[in-house]
Amino acid sequence: MGTFSHMQRNFVLLCLLAQVFLWPLILQTTAQFNRKAAKNSVSYNLRFNKMRCAHTPYKYTQLHYCFMEQLSNGSVGLNISITIPVEINYLGIQTKLFYKYTTYRPFMIDWSMEYCQAARNGHYSPTTGLMMKIMEETLPDFYYPCPHGNRTYITFWMFEPKYIMQSIPSGDYRMDVFFRDSADENLVAMQLFGTVRKQGLLG
Ligand SMILES: *[C@@H]1O[C@H](CO)[C@@H](O)[C@H](O)[C@H]1NC(C)=O
Ligand SMILES: *[C@@H]1O[C@H](CO)[C@@H](O)[C@H](O)[C@H]1NC(C)=O
Ligand SMILES: *[C@@H]1O[C@H](CO)[C@@H](O)[C@H](O)[C@H]1NC(C)=O
Repeated sequence: MGTFSHMQRNFVLLCLLAQVFLWPLILQTTAQFNRKAAKNSVSYNLRFNKMRCAHTPYKYTQLHYCFMEQLSNGSVGLNISITIPVEINYLGIQTKLFYKYTTYRPFMIDWSMEYCQAARNGHYSPTTGLMMKIMEETLPDFYYPCPHGNRTYITFWMFEPKYIMQSIPSGDYRMDVFFRDSADENLVAMQLFGTVRKQGLLG
């Protein structure tokens, strides 16, 4: 018939989204990452400048520490310890990307999902699926169904450079990630600052 099934369409969409949108999530946590794009011999240099917890202090969450740290192998991540004493049955997660022109302006990504429902239902929209996959891969210890909270979360949050886009706009980026309760109160919020530099013949 030549028509795509739902699954195939979703898979293609997922791949496209991964290509277009995922690179900042995945790459900017690597301190420095060089890659030759085979097609046009341009290499992309992606570097994390800063990571931090933002919008502190939080109403319910006790933030013990939250700082960027570089491992001896060069990988960087956010070393976080927080206690969320309240029980969480609604966990809104929002990811927003900003590109710096003269100021940071929204750029391409503004994703929202509700984790508890997604974890309960097990079927997602493509973007929710991506966010769940990133959660599963980067925060495996915390990837369990709600209730959440009523505990301390300690993690070194780091991403592997798995997904790479063929052409990445050079420049400065910021990514904001919010974890919020049902009253839209921040439980924790992260800000990641990165720079993309294009190098090579066509750079
Ligand atoms: C660096 O070490 C961490 C922890 O052992 C590991 O997860 C990560 O993949 C390593 N990064 C690289 C670039 O090898
Ligand atoms: C994170 O910071 C804590 C407190 O400073 C430290 O004990 C721990 O080793 C750090 N974790 C990593 C992965 O570097
Ligand atoms: C909080 O966790 C403790 C065990 O760590 C458990 O005994 C208690 O029932 C939990 N409280 C709530 C409100 O879930």
